Amino acid sequence: MDKSILIIGACGQIGTELTLKLRKNYGKNAVIASDISEGNEELMESGPFEFINALDYKQISSIIDKYAINEVYLMAAMLSATGEKFPAKAWELNMNSLLNVLNLAKEGKIKKLFWPSSIAVFGPTTPKENTPQKTVMEPTTVYGISKLAGERWCEYYFNKYGVDVRSIRYPGIISWKTSPGGGTTDYAIEIYHKALTDGNYDSFLGKNTKLPMMYMDDAINATLKIMEAPAENIKIRSSYNLAAISFTPEEIAEEIKNFIPKFAISYHSDFRQSIADSWPSSIDDSEARKDWGWQHQFDLEKISESMLRNLQVKFDEIKTQK
Ligand code: SER
Repeated sequence: MDKSILIIGACGQIGTELTLKLRKNYGKNAVIASDISEGNEELMESGPFEFINALDYKQISSIIDKYAINEVYLMAAMLSATGEKFPAKAWELNMNSLLNVLNLAKEGKIKKLFWPSSIAVFGPTTPKENTPQKTVMEPTTVYGISKLAGERWCEYYFNKYGVDVRSIRYPGIISWKTSPGGGTTDYAIEIYHKALTDGNYDSFLGKNTKLPMMYMDDAINATLKIMEAPAENIKIRSSYNLAAISFTPEEIAEEIKNFIPKFAISYHSDFRQSIADSWPSSIDDSEARKDWGWQHQFDLEKISESMLRNLQVKFDEIKTQK
């Protein structure tokens, strides 16, 4: 069976880079990008695109028929900080989009499904350091509650209906191509932008707030790796813990100073501080490493070098276009 992939939420931070990578690997016509609005130029020019509202079951179903889709990546979601502003909307989008694709898979219209979960499934009662795969989970954000409920649904659909759904709990994802939207870990992206444009950054998280983070290249590799693994290797059908590195705002600022010595940071916590405080500082991802060979490549130094170099090129391009 030839691969025919649909990405829902293809224009977001992870969706954009995932689409580009899948098109590189499988050919542009094998990967259909979709979202409720258009993405950046690179994404839109890289292959087929369809408008899809992730809440519209019929629309998804007809696109699956149109392209004989067999694999779906559902990347549409409302993240933690925005979710606290629009709790009902966050629940509706995060839950019903997942149930739509799970039901399409149950009907046999999707053979393999990827759905991302998050470190937000954990809460203040979870062990903070080296958080185990199986532990106390009492999330306090709507985003976290929806991801935890989603994980339970994934496992349920696997056990009851044999749906081949695969999932990882992403930590904060750092990238330069497409901006993130409404996450608590987004400070670790803004800081690189501001380091280059202003030489200083006012952090919305306190200096000792340590969170699990990962570079986009690693996140994409993990996603492809779990999707390519033989079904029998996927022992966990809720969602896998996944980790690379952990750092605080103070530590990332120190790293940036190795590249931009005059860089300065200040701290003014806002409502996102209590979200960050409820999440783990580091994650035990040994199950992912054991079951499907997960390994990360990027440490904080490599991330910082790559972010500053790529953002500088992007800013210079914007300047010459003006
Ligand atoms: N990056 C996400 C957020 O901050 C966590 O999954 O909401």
